[in-house]
Amino acid sequence: MKREDFLIYEDPNLIYLDSGATTLKPKVLADAISEYYNHYSANAHRGDYDISLKVDTLFEKTRYLVSNFIHANTNEVAFTNNATDSLSKIVWGFFEDYLNPGEEVLITKSEHASNVLPWFELAKRKGIVVRYIPLDSDLKVTMENVRKTVTQKTKVISLAQITNVVGDVRPIKEITSFAHQNGILVVVDGAQSVPHMPVDVKELDIDFLAFSAHKMCGPTGLGVLYGKEEYLRQFRPLIVGGGMNASFEFDGTVIYNEIPHFLEAGTPNIAGVIGFGKVVEYLEEIGMDRIQAYEKELRDYAIRRLKEVPKIILYNEKSESGIITFNIQDVFSQDLAIYLNKYHICVRAGNHCAKILKEDLGIKNTCRVSLYFYNTKEEIDALVRALKNPHLMEEII
Ligand SMILES: Cc1ncc(COP(=O)(O)O)c(C=O)c1O
Repeated sequence: MKREDFLIYEDPNLIYLDSGATTLKPKVLADAISEYYNHYSANAHRGDYDISLKVDTLFEKTRYLVSNFIHANTNEVAFTNNATDSLSKIVWGFFEDYLNPGEEVLITKSEHASNVLPWFELAKRKGIVVRYIPLDSDLKVTMENVRKTVTQKTKVISLAQITNVVGDVRPIKEITSFAHQNGILVVVDGAQSVPHMPVDVKELDIDFLAFSAHKMCGPTGLGVLYGKEEYLRQFRPLIVGGGMNASFEFDGTVIYNEIPHFLEAGTPNIAGVIGFGKVVEYLEEIGMDRIQAYEKELRDYAIRRLKEVPKIILYNEKSESGIITFNIQDVFSQDLAIYLNKYHICVRAGNHCAKILKEDLGIKNTCRVSLYFYNTKEEIDALVRALKNPHLMEEII
């Protein structure tokens, strides 16, 4: 679907199956970025002349488009550097003050480092307790396990909507409903979900959401932090300076800007934000429902075909997303990735920043295929052909 929009495919040999790491970029993104740098490269929110006002309009248009994309209000969407930055800001800007020593955050062992390490740090500095919702035999989160793990001390549940190794889709709506009945807030790491499925923060009743533009055809160095207005208003600004204050006096009196601007100190990634606006329009045009349905079809096809490969171990056959994690028996995952590269096939090998999943998964390192709407069944056939190569072992050694 839409391969002609990606100039990188001018290389007819490229088989890119690593969109979970970062997606390919459509021409509309680079065009919008170069248009900004070549023709109206003024700062944002600072000038009273035409090109600066144009920047302001396009910058805020992206905020409007992103808000619509996730069904948030515009003042609930702040731009950050990436999902990691958004998650850290949520932890330090809100939860450091909100939580008391001894209170609990629940995560799982399949979370990405960016949704684990800030909580570990908060545990060290503030004495909160990090506990794990157990995964079932398919490495999924069940409501039964959520209910069993919550205690009187649980104040936050922080989960990826889709995890980056197992690729399971979590039942966020049921989790927020149960959590809110018990006075628990829910943080959702949307890095692998917002790019791949419709996400409606109002319908799901999510308290905080974090995601990265670069995993959804957008620029690197740009992330989104969504928070319900009532919580964003309680944020402590972590980075203070220009662009986020309305006034300050010599005696130390400061008046900060309204949300979300007071979370955006300093000159932002203007070109990236403007380019991201074009990308959000581009994704809306294709339709997130269509993207999700197409990826599901590709995934089902890939699982069916991969099962033909001798000695393959599939770790997440029962997951629902375009993430497929596997190994070939007796082959080190990185050796396999290097072998596939000989056939121009890009997959990711390693622990994928989910370093505490190893006990539940039964292994530390795996190969990961992660699909997006520009992938095809022919590419999956090429992967299967390379994996079925009777000389695979000799070629690796
Ligand atoms: C589930 C998940 N969360 C968070 C991140 C961090 O994203 P970024 O590196 O863009 O901050 C990733 C990146 O792979 C991810 O897969």
